Amino acid sequence: MQDYHEFLDEILVTAEQIEARVTELGAQLSRDYEGKDLIVVCLLRGGIIFTADLLRHMSIDPEVDCMSLSSYGVGQYASSGNVRVHLDLRTNIEGRHVLLVEDIVDSGRTLAHVLNMLRTREPASLRVCVLLDKKMRREVPVQVDYSGFDVPDKYVFGYGIDIDEHCRYLPFIASVDLSKYRKPG
Ligand code: IMP
Ligand code: MG
Repeated sequence: MQDYHEFLDEILVTAEQIEARVTELGAQLSRDYEGKDLIVVCLLRGGIIFTADLLRHMSIDPEVDCMSLSSYGVGQYASSGNVRVHLDLRTNIEGRHVLLVEDIVDSGRTLAHVLNMLRTREPASLRVCVLLDKKMRREVPVQVDYSGFDVPDKYVFGYGIDIDEHCRYLPFIASVDLSKYRKPG
């Protein structure tokens, strides 16, 4: 894998900005779900770092479960909305409060698919918390209840979000200069 400095376009959200926003979101979620039976669902793999940080900024004690999805049949750096479920929840969510935590909402197809799927299981409530929202890219209307930052229509990486499965470890969110990026392998 190429050194990310070679293809970094610009840092869109710094580690400090993420920390401040995650602190706010954690406090807000703690207020909103105080006294409720909450299950936080981390959408793998992009949601791992955001979910971990969010949980540590909450003053409540939710259950945590994970789902792994991918969209396939895609152009290079866009999602098709043909969503495949690789790992489903272990928890029965019927009658319980569910918060989905996702890295980024783009066309909205992935979230729309998961929301439809989970609604059939009749949770008491179902809300969505995303770190990043590419609003101008939306093709399917999708409910976003909590959002960290709006980002422009650029391919981004860092803080759990990958470019070809790398760069998830970076503490900030950056955009890629695709003219300088070489696909690994
Ligand atoms: P959507 O179904 O088009 O909303 O796409 C959402 C999914 O595509 C997210 O869960 C991400 O995994 C992925 N995605 C969208 N934009 C980016 C990006 O800029 N970088 C990395 N992954 C992205
Ligand atoms: Mg994702």
